[in-house]
Amino acid sequence: MSQDHESLENLLSEDRHFPPTAQFAAAANAQPDEYARADKDPLAFWDEQAKSLQWDSPWSKTLDWQSPYAKWFIGGKLNASVNALDRHVSQGRGSRVAFHFEGEPGDVRTITYAELLTEVKKAANALIELGIKAGDRVAIYMPMIPEAAVAMLACARIGAPHSVVFGGFSAEALLSRIQDADAKLVITADGGFRKGAAFALKPAVDEALKGQHNVEKVLVVQRTKQETAWTNRDIWWHEIVARQSSEHVAESFDSEHPLFILYTSGTTAKPKGIFHTTGGYLTQVAYTHKMVFDIKPETDVYWCTADVGWITGHSYIVYGPLINGATQVMYEGTPDTPHKGRIFELIAKYGVTILYTAPTLIRTWMKWGDEFPQAHDLTSLRLLGSVGEPINPEAWMWYREVIGGNRCPIVDTWWQTETGAIMISPLPGVTATKPGSAMNAVPGISAKVVDDNAVAVGNGRGGYLILDQPWPSMLRGIWGEDERYKETYWSRFDGIYFAGDGAKLDDEGAIWLLGRVDDVMNVSGHRISTTEVESALVSHESVAEAAVVGAADAMTGQAIVAFVILRGGIEHANGDELNKALRDHVAKQIGAIAKPRQILIVNELPKTRSGKIMRRLLKDVAEDRAVGDATTLADPNVMKLISEGLQSAKSED
Ligand code: PRX
Repeated sequence: MSQDHESLENLLSEDRHFPPTAQFAAAANAQPDEYARADKDPLAFWDEQAKSLQWDSPWSKTLDWQSPYAKWFIGGKLNASVNALDRHVSQGRGSRVAFHFEGEPGDVRTITYAELLTEVKKAANALIELGIKAGDRVAIYMPMIPEAAVAMLACARIGAPHSVVFGGFSAEALLSRIQDADAKLVITADGGFRKGAAFALKPAVDEALKGQHNVEKVLVVQRTKQETAWTNRDIWWHEIVARQSSEHVAESFDSEHPLFILYTSGTTAKPKGIFHTTGGYLTQVAYTHKMVFDIKPETDVYWCTADVGWITGHSYIVYGPLINGATQVMYEGTPDTPHKGRIFELIAKYGVTILYTAPTLIRTWMKWGDEFPQAHDLTSLRLLGSVGEPINPEAWMWYREVIGGNRCPIVDTWWQTETGAIMISPLPGVTATKPGSAMNAVPGISAKVVDDNAVAVGNGRGGYLILDQPWPSMLRGIWGEDERYKETYWSRFDGIYFAGDGAKLDDEGAIWLLGRVDDVMNVSGHRISTTEVESALVSHESVAEAAVVGAADAMTGQAIVAFVILRGGIEHANGDELNKALRDHVAKQIGAIAKPRQILIVNELPKTRSGKIMRRLLKDVAEDRAVGDATTLADPNVMKLISEGLQSAKSED
């Protein structure tokens, strides 16, 4: 058994169960027979779910599976934006609020489905005027404002795959994504509001576009009204969109037409362009949004606190909830601006009933203290969700008691950019939950925990999480990198999708996620690869070699700890200054989210005889543990030297 595998075996036993109340269960969208219906015939089950979308042409076959390539709903045609918007308006729901938008400075916009549709039609017409055609890629680099959703839906409407790049990424990261997708247009904003101040976005676009690219135009939303440098490539959103017709007849696209590309970290420095298509993706996001969040669109107010720059924002702010006709809260800023009760104040203000957030924020709230949530009326809440990383039982219990008033079911949802939609989660109203467990695969999905030989482990055992049947919202590939797609996901276990996560089955067969088993870190729910940060570090003039590990961190789940060897002749007497320079350099290369928490200057790195860095040993050091088995090191003394070096550095502090 491999080393990774052994560490997957450790898990405290958890005996607490929280069954749904009879009242919740009676009214729940998901009823217990959901699993049996799906198990009986998964394809027929997904066929039935797909029928809840509006199709312009029916499909002739549900699935074409030539491992590892799936096509769903073959021959069917539909338009994503029509499903999210036109359908509600034409069926008399145009006056329903789609978004209660709250800017960080407190500016408010209420946008109905009819208004959102008009904006999307105008934006689609503007894209057409700018020469964007079906199949062209559009990069979107925006703050959390309604125009981000409008831009995505306008792209979808005309069949131009969008590639949303998180607004916190650097110019370099933006450029590499623009290049990889060969984007023709960038949609951005002058800036946004965060932590009480305006930050600029447009200068990063200008900086990025100094590189090689085929971007013809940059469409700029005016959000902050700050000074913005201008070139003749730039166009103000309000100028071009405002003068467009509010009529736009959407074209139908093939079920397998690419809907979007979203870059995510893998085990190498180059991010992977995960791409998703239309029919299957929309089917699964709509189904899971309805069942996992128990959405009742007439009465619920749903709030997912993610940014549209991540898959959670794509699937559970833009596509799933809008297809289901939900009313949502969208918030631009940070949870502590202007005070630490901001999220709770907004829950009370809008009567939020369903809250979907990340464990890192829950742990931050715990640290800030119960007085902040307690100062607001949170009794409107009826369901809580968690996503992005394993939620520790203490945080789960706190979420339940302090935010949910012991009344709300919690859905801990496991999924990935690659899976497109929720794969493992309790069904509220059906599942008796356990604090810290994502429980079981949702209906229609097959997830297993296997050993090194792909044999399913029994209850009480740990192993690798795999998905052994295709699912509608699965990635269709890595943009332009077919070999990498096969190698990354389908080669560890031949023909089986390996998610990169370790998991354990408890005595009752519930799934407990145990984090990544590859070189991918999870910092506040954001995926960052160790190699990505290492390459950023070695691109600095002072650095000869770097090794990066994700060390356990009480607040962010994992934190980035870097071990760095300096180039000959570089003094590190002035450690603080160098430390800052290196951290800033990583922020410039990737984005502030990738800044290491700690940088430790060392003279050697632990390597095997074949030259592979043994990160496991560095992780022991970073987590302040006794260093594990170092016998396979080329030089077994290295770890002693590193530990001693760090001890003496500590005593000098
Ligand atoms: O390690 C798992 C963790 O996040 C990874 C996927 O990251 P990303 O593609 O950025 O998508 C995040 C939002 C869906 C997974 O491989 N992860 C996500 N949700 C959970 C989780 N780990 C444990 N429990 C979860 N609920």
